[in-house]
Amino acid sequence: VPRTIDDLSWPTRTERLSLRPAEPADADDTWRYRRLPPVYEWSTTAATDQDEYRARFVLPERLAKQLVIELDGRIIGDLMLAVEDPYSQFEMRAQAVGVQAELGWSLDPDYQGKGYGTEAVEELIRICFAELGLRRVIANCFSVHEPSWQLMERVGMRREQHAVREALHRSGAWLDEYGYALLMDEWAARQHG
Ligand SMILES: CC(C)(COP(=O)(O)OP(=O)(O)OC[C@H]1O[C@@H](n2cnc3c(N)ncnc32)[C@H](O)[C@@H]1OP(=O)(O)O)[C@@H](O)C(=O)NCCC(=O)NCCS
Repeated sequence: VPRTIDDLSWPTRTERLSLRPAEPADADDTWRYRRLPPVYEWSTTAATDQDEYRARFVLPERLAKQLVIELDGRIIGDLMLAVEDPYSQFEMRAQAVGVQAELGWSLDPDYQGKGYGTEAVEELIRICFAELGLRRVIANCFSVHEPSWQLMERVGMRREQHAVREALHRSGAWLDEYGYALLMDEWAARQHG
């Protein structure tokens, strides 16, 4: 039986940070930075109303893929870990269920520029491969959001896709998207390097 986030023991710690699944009570502490335009500029949803934000945050399907990043007990960011099924041919579907995850991240601007994002995402990737046994992780971002793809490159992900004017930004502009990925065996090889 594949392991899920709920089967792991939390929190998990890195040198400076601690990660754990998000709880409904974290809605207001994440709203503090999620409501800031530079944080939601590239995110799927713009957090502009606290009640709406809270209502969306506590949805079980949303909480199920959300982790928070804590520094000395303070929430400084959050992560998404959304397990998904990669494409497979029909006969192989059972073997492709839940073997991949899409990752995401947001950091409080007060805590950007210090490597906390890199440290948290490295741990997120370790959880995906070493704890959950996934075979591939992916992440997407607008090509203009350089801090996000720089982070992906720092954690060893590979740019595999450059989709031209694929994605519609809330400004009305169709923007280029980058798709990044890392395979479990590539990650494992790096651990011994
Ligand atoms: C994407 C995001 C998390 C990146 O934040 P970040 O602060 O650049 O990333 P890190 O925390 O890894 O910090 C790296 C920076 O700290 C510096 N740094 C300092 N100490 C460091 C350390 N010990 N390790 C690594 N980097 C360190 C790095 O040089 C880098 O700075 P630079 O970009 O000026 O070279 C942030 O921009 C964000 O939250 N954006 C808004 C939300 C969002 O759009 N999310 C993604 C949607 S696709």
